[in-house]
Amino acid sequence: MKKILITGGAGYIGSHTAVELWAAGIEPVILDDLSNSDPKVLDRLEEITGKRFQFYSGDCSDRNLLNTISSEHQLAGVIHFAAFKAVGESTRLPLKYYRNNVSALIVLLEWMQDMKIKDLVFSSSCTVYGQPEILPVTEATPRQEAESPYGNTKKICEDILIDVVKSKGGIRVISLRYFNPVGAHPSSKIGELPLGTPNNLVPFITQTAAGIREKLTVFGDDYDTPDGSCIRDYIHVVDLADAHLRAFSYLENQPADFYEVFNVGTGQGNSVLEVIQTFEKVSGQKLNYEIGPRRPGDVVQVWADTTKINQVLGWYPKFSLEDSMRDSWNWQKSL
Ligand code: NAD
Ligand code: WQD
Repeated sequence: MKKILITGGAGYIGSHTAVELWAAGIEPVILDDLSNSDPKVLDRLEEITGKRFQFYSGDCSDRNLLNTISSEHQLAGVIHFAAFKAVGESTRLPLKYYRNNVSALIVLLEWMQDMKIKDLVFSSSCTVYGQPEILPVTEATPRQEAESPYGNTKKICEDILIDVVKSKGGIRVISLRYFNPVGAHPSSKIGELPLGTPNNLVPFITQTAAGIREKLTVFGDDYDTPDGSCIRDYIHVVDLADAHLRAFSYLENQPADFYEVFNVGTGQGNSVLEVIQTFEKVSGQKLNYEIGPRRPGDVVQVWADTTKINQVLGWYPKFSLEDSMRDSWNWQKSL
């Protein structure tokens, strides 16, 4: 059976991707330092798939650990999720973010080259577009100066990957620029596990509905959008996981030294107030929320043009915003 190393495989998107790989007949090998995840995720993955995945607890910038993994497994490639992702924290602790997100990629690439592991799918982000002038954003939309050190790590990592491919370094890469991942596995066995107070909208909504938070603050309703609140492209995490599978399969049929980037979103923008209404509809819960001031640094509106991923990878989302809210809510209730 083909094996793929998933760095950050105990995390939110990585764990869902492990399930989709297994369903497609690929064995995930998981490496995670558990800095933002719980080892129980491994039990949950076993409950869903019936398979105990091989798990290495450690840092993906630990070259000795990477050497151990490649000596124990014949790897077809790597999907690299491991990174820190808290935008606010990155402005306070930029070096923590540059070390973990950028240095780890360099170590990983050196190891891949030495071990002749060719294929890499990289987690990038729509954050690289900042506030685009023209919507929806295509992959040709220029990247903007990053708003945060976190965003800058994604831009730098994309550039490192481009340079390695240009150097004919023997690596084929797809960078996937995720829009806003939401939802959870429909089994409610895995989902997002934010540590402390969530930064993101949907976990804040579900925790408020569950009584863990008193109320949600909507960060501004005076923007130049139809209802005044910000607009994003919310993509179900299982659809996002499936995009990795498609990206990996595509990569394997490409020539040496290949680089491509794809947006992964639904192609539809929804406002914060629409997300709240959808949540209330599918959960039957009235959400306690108030309108507050704008959050500094927020992009007003962004959503994806998904023509490229639709046409080249044959990938289309299967889940609606209703499905995402239902699965996020069921997951919250299971905790
Ligand atoms: P997550 O925090 O749930 O998962 C990341 C996992 O990586 C965690 O389990 C963490 O313990 C692990 N990890 C972190 N640093 C590590 C290291 N040095 N070595 C080994 N393991 C390490 O985050 P996620 O939401 O699943 O995000 C996955 C990737 O997608 C990240 O690269 C993130 O920047 C990117 N991304 C996320 C979003 C989002 O909103 N969730 C959007 C765009 C891009
Ligand atoms: C969504 C909308 C908020 C919380 C972040 C990162 C980005 C990417 C995805 C990784 C915004 C509003 C939120 C709340 C609110 N991650 N909101 N009240 O800001 O689009 O993107 O996650 O790459 O890089 O910046 O996501 O979930 O924080 O916010 O009104 O309590 O919800 O203003 O309009 P964002 P988010």
